[in-house]
Amino acid sequence: MEIRRIGMKIGIIGAGHIGGNLAQLLVQHGHEVVIANSRGPATLGAVAQRTGATPVEVADAPRDAEVVIVAVPLRAVAELPKGLLDTARPGVAVIDTNNYYPQRDGQIRPIDDGMTSARWVSEQLARPVVKAFNNIVAQQLLDRHTKPGTEGRRALPVAGDDGAAKTVVLGLVDEIGFDAVDVGGLDESWRYQPGTPAYGPDVTAAKLIELLEGA
Ligand SMILES: NC(=O)c1ccc[n+]([C@@H]2O[C@H](COP(=O)([O-])OP(=O)(O)OC[C@H]3O[C@@H](n4cnc5c(N)ncnc54)[C@H](OP(=O)(O)O)[C@@H]3O)[C@@H](O)[C@H]2O)c1
Repeated sequence: MEIRRIGMKIGIIGAGHIGGNLAQLLVQHGHEVVIANSRGPATLGAVAQRTGATPVEVADAPRDAEVVIVAVPLRAVAELPKGLLDTARPGVAVIDTNNYYPQRDGQIRPIDDGMTSARWVSEQLARPVVKAFNNIVAQQLLDRHTKPGTEGRRALPVAGDDGAAKTVVLGLVDEIGFDAVDVGGLDESWRYQPGTPAYGPDVTAAKLIELLEGA
């Protein structure tokens, strides 16, 4: 099974801490990256200069993309245009990096009632999503990435129901510098939501699995 692909078309929605730093790493690894925010490409000059990604309108970010990364405040996912992902490639891997912080996002009833935030994002987008990059501080993406096989390499968890999409994301996580741990289906993603031991620790794959299993 193919787990790593070079030179994918990747659309990033959200050009802040996480979106920007992922853009930078993905461009460095040879991917063709476009990036969008709600205010339009004219506001993304500095981001483009720093990351090498091409600024576009939100509606154009998923166009023909093999991977779409959604990195906006969680509440804003519900405001994204309906059918946004319809122009992406069939089988697009949609990565949900987002976390639920009620003080920032307001109360979101289904999540308060026990739904994982990733499942809620999937419902808003009407697409399967893969949950990844939500449990690492954005700056650590730039500071802690290492080559495969590096002693003490940091690991990041990945969950999703679409096996092919998850395989693409597991490959990307490894490619940009982190051991990838497959946590299972999307509903297992509660194991590394805010408030769990697996949310944020700088640990190896073996330790991360221990924390995920003990959650
Ligand atoms: N910061 C971290 O260390 C970190 C780590 C892991 C996960 N996360 C999660 O990742 C998500 C993004 O966090 P962040 O820290 O990167 O946030 P951020 O720095 O505030 O960036 C958010 C980005 O989303 C854009 N945005 C907001 N509303 C939008 C909309 N309706 N349509 C399109 N773009 C929109 C913002 O630009 P405009 O306002 O100009 O549109 C901005 O570029 C959050 O859910 C957060 O919990 C953050």
